[in-house]
Amino acid sequence: MAKQRAPHLVVFTGAGISAESGIQTFRASDGLWADHAIEDVATPEAWRRDPERVLRFYDMRRDQVRRARPNPAHQALASLERRGFRVSIITQNIDDLHERAGSRQVLHLHGEILKARSSVDPRMHYPLPRGGISLGDLCDKGSQLRPDVVWFGEAVPHFVEACEVAAEADLLLVVGTSLAVMPAASLLDHAPLDAPCVLVDPDAQVLAPPGVARLNQSAGQGVPALVRHWQREGRLW
Ligand code: APR
Repeated sequence: MAKQRAPHLVVFTGAGISAESGIQTFRASDGLWADHAIEDVATPEAWRRDPERVLRFYDMRRDQVRRARPNPAHQALASLERRGFRVSIITQNIDDLHERAGSRQVLHLHGEILKARSSVDPRMHYPLPRGGISLGDLCDKGSQLRPDVVWFGEAVPHFVEACEVAAEADLLLVVGTSLAVMPAASLLDHAPLDAPCVLVDPDAQVLAPPGVARLNQSAGQGVPALVRHWQREGRLW
């Protein structure tokens, strides 16, 4: 008898899944983009104009990540993997909370704040210097190191790979994203037409695309509840 394949849950996460861990989201009234102008801290032009300011912005964000701990949403997704489900996480987040919770299949579309990269070649990744990145910290090719994150206007690495993962979903779970940024948000279009899609977000204003079911709950409430249901049923639908 053919071995039944493990149900495949693809999870697409944004800043909201880390909000209950104390990491700021972007577009809330008290979000990062309320306090900082994108064009001053998160574009290649900002880096050319004032690299020191950009480095200090990411030092502040890195401090938030270091103080944060995985919350019940991150932990529930990792537990599903331990229970034999195939769980692929595609995240817009640059924190490492999915990994710290124990998830093993994590694809970062917008980079990783705990890593550095060459400011000349985006393919050259480096360990973060102790104490963060300073002007004058050079890679082994002699170019200035920068945070290993994707800025507005830059290419999104692994996006094709992420679409291929989404195309194999039995169910797509979308958690804590305003779906405001492309191409990341177009990932939903790559899931199979017959795969259910569920969006978890406490803000009822966030428009779920047609055909997407929604759970108006926080990630820390909604995701563990869904995971308990799937674990009880032994399947995703
Ligand atoms: N649980 C679940 N969702 C939450 C919670 C929570 N506790 N708190 C807030 N949210 C929701 C908000 O309602 C919002 O819909 O999380 C979403 C966060 O949206 P954004 O702040 O726009 O963050 P995100 O969607 O991840 O932004 C995408 O934009 O600025 C760029 O590169 C940045 O990766 C980021 C991208």
